[in-house]
Amino acid sequence: MVMMAAGHQPTADWIGNSLRLMLTDGRFAASLFGGRNSVAEAMNEVLWEDTPTQNVAGRWASRDTHLGGQHIRAGDLLLLGLQAANSDPQVRPVGDDLTGGNNAHFSFGHGEHRCPFPAQEVAEVIARTGIEVVLDRLPDIDLDVPADLLTRRPSPWLRGLTELPVRFTPTPALGGN
Ligand code: HEM
Repeated sequence: MVMMAAGHQPTADWIGNSLRLMLTDGRFAASLFGGRNSVAEAMNEVLWEDTPTQNVAGRWASRDTHLGGQHIRAGDLLLLGLQAANSDPQVRPVGDDLTGGNNAHFSFGHGEHRCPFPAQEVAEVIARTGIEVVLDRLPDIDLDVPADLLTRRPSPWLRGLTELPVRFTPTPALGGN
């Protein structure tokens, strides 16, 4: 269940959200012609601005505590607002700049139950390989609808597109030699 719910869908949404960004945001246009760094940049930007893992339910406080001016009692249910935490001005560099290699976001959670590090690496390799292969095989790929008509699944937990319509020039199948 964890592999499917925690593994597959966020990875698929990471691919979709990153491709959407690359097809709609001029800062990444150059990458469509093969710049591999910008694939990584787009993927990192997505984890800051458009993360698949918006909110995580739930965690239960194991003891009374204070957090952000709130009194939390043992047993209280906590919803982790990961996307909101990414927007905290104390965390996110100010302005419109790309985050570069900064991966201090909360999109993989934090602490004991964060997404295991090997899983993060596996997810990153799957997503980056998928995007690189799409851009390599379909070099003239472009969005087939206005960007504002793209729709997302109605979910408070995982953020991903219902579909990503694109157009491209079909290439003949490669020979079998
Ligand atoms: C191959 C792909 C992946 C696998 C196998 C995987 C596996 C897991 C597992 C086993 C957990 C539960 C850890 C625990 O409860 O101790 C987890 C948690 C989590 N994963 Fe992943 N994951 C994958 C991809 C991703 C991706 C792409 C994202 C986000 C972009 C993500 C974000 C999270 C988050 C936010 C949690 C919960 C953290 C928390 O509760 O604080 N995972 N993952």
